[in-house]
Amino acid sequence: MPLVKVAKVSELKPGTVIEVSAGGKPYALCNVDGALHALEGVCPHRGGPLGQGSLQGAVLVCPWHSWEFDCRTGENTWDSATRVAKVPVTVAGDDILIDVP
Ligand code: FES
Repeated sequence: MPLVKVAKVSELKPGTVIEVSAGGKPYALCNVDGALHALEGVCPHRGGPLGQGSLQGAVLVCPWHSWEFDCRTGENTWDSATRVAKVPVTVAGDDILIDVP
């Protein structure tokens, strides 16, 4: 699986989420108190753009209908059987890279 540079650490402040793209797919990149997490960026409800959502603690809220996912696990906060896939994150200097499938 290739490592793809998607952002700079300086672009992703603690407590924020940004949408990035790699291999033609969107990902949600979250900074939870300095720990970086990447999730596939399409909401399993109706396909909302998770990377354009909001981050509340470790919980990423979909901008379309407010489904919530824990950035650390990808699990929906109401139904742990519903989840979005996590992808590994690597930091090299100021670069953030994700390991895309
Ligand atoms: S599309 Fe994400 S909550 Fe509906």
